[in-house]
Amino acid sequence: MLKLIKNHFLHVLKFSAANANDVEDFRIKYLGKKGIISELFEQFKQLNSVTDKKEIGKEINLLKNAVKEKIETLLSKPLSERTKKKEDLTKPGEFYSAGSLHPLTIVKNKILDVFLQFGFVISEGPEIEDDWHNFSALNIPMEHPARDMQDTFFVQKDPDYLLRTHTSSVQVRYMENQSPPIKTISPGRVFRNEAISARAHCIFHQIEGLYIDETVSFADLKQLLYSFAKELFNSKTKVRFRPSYFPFTEPSAEMDISCNICGGKGCNICKHTGWVEILGCGMVDPMVLDNCKINSDKYNGYAFGLGIERIAMLKYQIKDLRLFYENDIRFLNQFKSAF
Ligand code: PHE
Repeated sequence: MLKLIKNHFLHVLKFSAANANDVEDFRIKYLGKKGIISELFEQFKQLNSVTDKKEIGKEINLLKNAVKEKIETLLSKPLSERTKKKEDLTKPGEFYSAGSLHPLTIVKNKILDVFLQFGFVISEGPEIEDDWHNFSALNIPMEHPARDMQDTFFVQKDPDYLLRTHTSSVQVRYMENQSPPIKTISPGRVFRNEAISARAHCIFHQIEGLYIDETVSFADLKQLLYSFAKELFNSKTKVRFRPSYFPFTEPSAEMDISCNICGGKGCNICKHTGWVEILGCGMVDPMVLDNCKINSDKYNGYAFGLGIERIAMLKYQIKDLRLFYENDIRFLNQFKSAF
């Protein structure tokens, strides 16, 4: 008898129906008054052994439940198929994060916007440079101590190829290929062999500007940078120029702005001086113009260069430079609304 029940079990599990009539026939066959289940119960009554009765009774009940379950799933199938086809238009949509611009991109765009308003055009150049465009044309000959100002990653020696240490190399290329008046701004990634810390990294981003025309003065440079600082930070921002040295400009200067955190009163960021340095600048050395085949008797100009990371750190009060490159989503998410 157990074997018979087992065969029925297999039949029930395998059974499939093409339509509702098939299901009804199946139901009658098993659960009808004269169906298989009641027939099995009749046979069960005639059993003598108590242990047999216990075991077989249990099996018949399991078979009955299996039949009922089968009927239920067969009947519910067409219904669920119908609901699948109809989309629920009131269901809330799936959430996709829109992402955001990287803080360095946000700051770069802001800086470029300001200079584009002043009539500068954007120029770009290669990240792997030759010695001439990165150093020699800029008045930094071989063996000159000024080369030590920028620790360099060399890609190849003799002839030298290197990762550019500043975007001044782009300006050299621009001067070689264009004739004055020149008014260009060069954003890009630069590389220096420095130990990585909260304040220094071996990769960072610069924007350098160049203006060459017949009568350019230091006063023009000061006015431009003064307006730039006010636009980028706020209208109360003050600037000051300190004498400095760069091989490719003469005279050279560094520009500080009044600390945008404390407004000049003194805080940790400005080391209680009220001022923070933001860029280097100067009048282009006539030697550089001659190197780029621009007549230095007729033309002169100014140049300036700034680090995007430095400006972003000041603007958003970021204390560790490394945060820009770690892609920590908790850091990046904070810039969602800033563009
Ligand atoms: N090229 C300089 C640097 O990377 C910055 C600079 C550009 C200074 C132009 C003066 C004039 O440090």
